[in-house]
Amino acid sequence: MTIYDVIAKKRDGHPLTEEEIRFFVRCSVDGSADDSQLTALLMAIYINGMTDEETAVLTDAMARSGDMLDLSRFGSLSADKHSTGGVGDKTSLIVAPIAASLGVKMAKMSGRGLGHTGGTVDKLEAIPGYRTTVSDDEFLSQVEKVGVALIGQTADLAPADKKLYSLRDHTATVGCIPLIVSSVMSKKLAAGAKNIVLDVKYGSGAFMKTPEQAEALARKMVTIGKACGRNVAAVLTDMDTPLGSHIGNALEVVEAAEVLKNNVSSDLSEVSFVLAAHIVSLTFGMPFDDAMAHVRDTVASGAAFAKMKEWVGAQGGAASYLDDVSRFPAAAASLAVRPPRDGSVSLGAGRTVKDAPIDHAAGIILRKKTGDFVREGDVLCTLYTNQAATLPDAQSRFLSALTFSETAPAPRPLILKTVK
Ligand code: URA
Repeated sequence: MTIYDVIAKKRDGHPLTEEEIRFFVRCSVDGSADDSQLTALLMAIYINGMTDEETAVLTDAMARSGDMLDLSRFGSLSADKHSTGGVGDKTSLIVAPIAASLGVKMAKMSGRGLGHTGGTVDKLEAIPGYRTTVSDDEFLSQVEKVGVALIGQTADLAPADKKLYSLRDHTATVGCIPLIVSSVMSKKLAAGAKNIVLDVKYGSGAFMKTPEQAEALARKMVTIGKACGRNVAAVLTDMDTPLGSHIGNALEVVEAAEVLKNNVSSDLSEVSFVLAAHIVSLTFGMPFDDAMAHVRDTVASGAAFAKMKEWVGAQGGAASYLDDVSRFPAAAASLAVRPPRDGSVSLGAGRTVKDAPIDHAAGIILRKKTGDFVREGDVLCTLYTNQAATLPDAQSRFLSALTFSETAPAPRPLILKTVK
């Protein structure tokens, strides 16, 4: 068998055999196929799709392409959470300590940004000293002691995904259901958690643009996870507008800390609490409403915020920055963006930050969100950067992502449904 033949077969629209898919995955990790060949096959999959059987084999082969973490010491208490990616999505930073403060063992490996979406690991690196790489032993003993550890995806975990993920990011082959299913679920299966909650985003800032696409993706991920013996729930959430008000690495850590300090009640806290409640519900076999009551209590009591500091401190991060968020280095330049006219604002998540710089202090604080009525003098958002020269262009791109109307757009449900 040659990779050339496998590419040609998928290019011509035929389903691949199990042997061919496993061969492709092997080639992606042992270097026997070059990037152009891997990318050609990814594009052929993007265009021609995969059957459910092909997707299941691809997921299994990718999960087994490296080490599989053994979390059996935590029994049924281990849990993981994954988002399909959006703008301003810092829910992992909130959900993990909430669940851990309630006795769940959160053993989480996160990725870097993909496409226009930010990665949890990039955000955590904004905290001075935070180590996103630790040994397996240290990772597991921190989960045991603290209840939460959150590190970057190790090179040994689903290395096929690591390779294919970065190729997809550069070749416009991200938004494809079989490739997303296999990418997400191979990592989740290899990372070993018994309970898995998936946040499947839909809307202009998500890879899945419509609720129908998001539900199709969610159903396939839940089916594969259950077939592999895991408890899985997927929540469909809106990503037509950024989640929360802060976008940018340090800014998102700040906003997450403020939610856990009970200072913010917003779309961000709502989605985070729902995801955390699903984790608690799956882990302890508890009705969702009871789990939600525990989630609200642990945040209100300060236990969840204390857990966030304990976790960040255990990983070498400056937990004192979370108490006093003004300690995060400020960007050198900022600009308040004002509307050109009165009206109700609609803000598209994707375009706003598509090429946002990755320096930790850079980002956007939204002062108004979709549906808000604004007057000419109001501030829509503040842009932060260490490169002042980029501000005028960023301002015009921000404004071009907005529309203004006399009447507010119809509200969209933030949480559409749960697939179990
Ligand atoms: N998140 C992932 O981990 N993989 C994808 O393919 C898309 C989102």
